[in-house]
Amino acid sequence: MTQAPETKPADQVTIEVDGKPMPARKGQMLIEVTDAFGPYVPRFCYHKKLSVVANCRMCLVEVEKAPKPLPACATPVMDGMKVHTRSAKARDAQKGTMEFLLINHPLDCPICDQGGECPLQDLALGYGKDISRYTEGKRVVDDKDIGPLIATEMTRCIHCTRCVRFGQEVAGVMEFGAIGRGEHMEIRTFLDRSIDSELSGNVIDLCPVGALTSKPFRFKARAWELSSRPSISPHDCVGTNITVQNLRGKVLRVLPRENEDLNECWLADRDRYSYEALNSAERLRAPMIRVDGKWRETDWESALEFTVRGIKKVIKSHGAEQLGALAAPISTLEEFYLLQKLVRGLGSGNVDHRLHQMDFRDDTQMPLFPAFGQPLAELAHARAMLLVGSNIRKDQPLIGLRVRQAALRGAQIAALNPIDYQFNFPLAAKLIIHPLEMVPALAAIAQALGRIKKSDLPAAFSQRFRSAAPTPEAQAIAQMLAVDAHSAVLVGNAAACHPQAAELRALARLIAELARVRLWQLPEANSAGAWLAGCVPHRGPLGQPATAGKNALAMLREPRKAYVLLGVEPELDCLSPSGARSAMEAAEFVVMLTSFRPSPYRTRAPEYVNVLLPLAPFTETGGGFVNGEGRVQTFGEAVRPLAETRPGWKILRMLGHMFGLSGFEQASVEEVRTEIKLEDMQPSADPGAWQLVAGATPGFRVPQQSELLRIAEVPMYAVDSLVRRAPALQAAADNPKPAAQLNAEQARKLGLHDGDRVCVRMVEGDAELALLIDDRVPGSCVLVPVGYPETASLGAYGPANVTKL
Ligand code: SF4
Ligand code: SF4
Ligand code: FES
Repeated sequence: MTQAPETKPADQVTIEVDGKPMPARKGQMLIEVTDAFGPYVPRFCYHKKLSVVANCRMCLVEVEKAPKPLPACATPVMDGMKVHTRSAKARDAQKGTMEFLLINHPLDCPICDQGGECPLQDLALGYGKDISRYTEGKRVVDDKDIGPLIATEMTRCIHCTRCVRFGQEVAGVMEFGAIGRGEHMEIRTFLDRSIDSELSGNVIDLCPVGALTSKPFRFKARAWELSSRPSISPHDCVGTNITVQNLRGKVLRVLPRENEDLNECWLADRDRYSYEALNSAERLRAPMIRVDGKWRETDWESALEFTVRGIKKVIKSHGAEQLGALAAPISTLEEFYLLQKLVRGLGSGNVDHRLHQMDFRDDTQMPLFPAFGQPLAELAHARAMLLVGSNIRKDQPLIGLRVRQAALRGAQIAALNPIDYQFNFPLAAKLIIHPLEMVPALAAIAQALGRIKKSDLPAAFSQRFRSAAPTPEAQAIAQMLAVDAHSAVLVGNAAACHPQAAELRALARLIAELARVRLWQLPEANSAGAWLAGCVPHRGPLGQPATAGKNALAMLREPRKAYVLLGVEPELDCLSPSGARSAMEAAEFVVMLTSFRPSPYRTRAPEYVNVLLPLAPFTETGGGFVNGEGRVQTFGEAVRPLAETRPGWKILRMLGHMFGLSGFEQASVEEVRTEIKLEDMQPSADPGAWQLVAGATPGFRVPQQSELLRIAEVPMYAVDSLVRRAPALQAAADNPKPAAQLNAEQARKLGLHDGDRVCVRMVEGDAELALLIDDRVPGSCVLVPVGYPETASLGAYGPANVTKL
C-alpha cells in the first residue's frame, strides 16, 4: 500500500534558517519565525505589537539569492527561502549598523538608568567594536520635562520610533513625534507638552535605550539588584498581570507581565506607578488605639482585645444589627470572605463593598457578580458597541484599548454618557445628555430595537415607557447593534454610580437581549471577588442565602453604632462622603483596618476611629483577585509586611477566633479560598425574566428648576487609597485639582467665570472650589469629583447650588 504524500495547508511554507527547516505562514515576517523557533535576531525598532518601519537596520540577515542583506522584520517569508543570521555577511551588516548607531550614542552606561537592562548595551557587546573610528564630537539633544512619570535623556535616543508608533497605533494619542531629518532628527512631544495619557508609561518598556525611563524609579536601583515577584494589579476589573520588583524588601518598580488574554504586554499608568504609595511616610506601622481622645501605639494583642471589647459592647447594648462593615473594592477575595463571615457570625448582615453605588433597587436581579459578557480579548473583535455611562478609556484603560482595537478593525462605537468624555477611538454616534435623561434615552434605543427586530417588548417596559418614541440617534444606535451578533453593550462606572442605576442596568440588559448581543457590566476593582465571597448584604458566598442586612449607602444613611472598615477611608472612598463622615462621627466604635495612618489633612478619621489595625496592602499579602470575566488569579506576598503590618485574612481570622466564633481556624490563605468553593461557581446561570424596578431611588431627590444636579464622578487617580498616595500619579496632568465644572452657557446664566471661587452647596454640606468652564458637562449640572478632601463635605448625586464667593 502506498502512503499518501503529506500535504501542508495552502498558507504554510517551509524556510531554512541557519540550516534548520522551520514552518511558517505565508506572508509572515522572517523575524516572527525566528522569534518562534530561534535563533535570536537583534533588533531595535521592531516590536510585535507595533507596525513595521524597518528603520534601525539592526536585524539585517543574509537571504540566499538576495543581493544585499535584508531586514528580518520587513522581509516576508517565501517557500524554500534560505536564511543565514550569523554568516559573515549577516554579521558584517549587523556590526556595521551597530557602528553607525554608536557614532552619536553617548558612552555613559555607568550613569545611565537603563544600564543592565538595555538592549543597546547588550547588543553592543556582541556586535560593537572595541574602539570607535569616529573622532568627531557627538550630537547632543536637549532634554525636556515631560511630566512626573517619564524621565528623558534624549541624547541616548536611537530614533527607533517605537514611542511614536505606540502613541499613534496603540494608545491613540499622538504624544511623541519626530522632527528634523538625519542627524538633526529629534523625538519630542508636541508643543513641549507633558505626556499624560493613561498608558504613557508603556513607552518606557518599549524604548530600547535609556532615552525614556521611569521618573519615580530613576537612580533608585540597578536592574540586577532587584528581586521580582509575579502579582496582579488591584485597581480595576482587568486583573492585569504585573511583576513587582523590590530592593531589600522595598517595592521600587512594577512592570507588566505578559498575558495575551488580559493586558497583553501593556500596563496602565495607575498600575505602574501606584506602588509609590507602599513606601509612603503615611504607612501605618503598628496597631494604634484612641483612649480619652489620645492616640497611642500598642501591640497586636491589646489592639485586638480593644477591638473585640468595643464591638461586643455595642452589640450588647444595641443589638448585632447595629454593626456595619464596609470593605474597599481593592480587598482580596479571602479578605471579603472572612469579613462577611465575621459580621454574619456576630449576627449582622450589614456588609458591603459597593461604596460608589447609590441605587440598590435591583439587588435581587443581579447576576452572581457583575461580569463581562465574554472573554476580554474577544471584545477587540466586536462589530459594534454601545457604552452606557462609561469613561472606559480612563476607568478601565486596558479595556478601553480593546475597544480601540475593535474600532480600528471597523467596529462602530456609540456612547450614551452624561459627560462628553474624550475617547481614543472614533464614535459613530453619541448621546451626551443630562444624567436624568439617560433612562428615557436608553428606553428609546430599546424601543427602536424592538421595531427593527419585530420583537414584542416586555409588558413592564411598555407600561413605563409608553411615550418613548425612538429619536433619530436612538434609531441609529439600535441599527448599529442590530446588524451583527458580535456586538456588545457595556455598562460602565458612571452608570453604576448613577441615581437610576437599576433602570440603566435593566434597560442595557433589555437592549442586549433584543439585539442578541453581549451585555458587559464593568465591575470596580475586585468587586467580582466581593460578590463571589458574599461581601454583599443580600447574598452569601457564591450567591447562597445568608443573613441579610443593609447595603453600603443604607448603613450610612441609617448610621450604625459600630463599624468595621476594611481598607476604607469613608470620606474619600464613598460616593456620599459627607454622609459617610456623619455616620462615622455618630458611631460609638469604629475599627479601621488600614495600610495608612489617617491624616487630618485628608479626613476626620483621627477623630472618629477608635482603633487602627495595620493592614498589609496587596504586595504584602497573598490572595486572589477576580476579574470581570470571573477569572480567579491568585498571587503571593511580593515583599514581607512592613513593620507590624499583618495580612487582612490573618487579622480577620484572629478577630473571629477572639470573638469565639467557629470556622476561623484556617492555617493559610489557600485554606480560606478553598472554603469559598469557587469550583462550584456557575456564572452562566439563567438570568431570569426581564424586570424593571418600580418607584424612585430611596434618598434621591430630583433637583428643582432653580437647582443644578451635582454629578459625582470618581476620577482615575482617586479610586483607592493606594493611587491617592502615589505622588507621581497625583502630580500627573490627568489628575487636575478638584473643581466645580460647569459648561460655559450654565456659567453665564449664573454670572460665573472660569477661575472664580465658588461655593457648591448641597443638603449634606458645602465645598469651596475653583470654577472650571468645561463644555463636556451638560446644562443644569455641575460636575464635582469624589475622592478628594476638598469635596469630602458634599453628598453624592443630588440637587446643588453654585454661587460666587
Ligand atoms: Fe548604555 Fe544603553 Fe544607556 Fe546607551 S542607553 S548609555 S547603551 S545603558
Ligand atoms: Fe526609540 Fe526611545 Fe528614541 Fe522613542 S525615545 S524613538 S522609543 S529610542
Ligand atoms: Fe528590523 Fe529595525 S528591527 S530594521
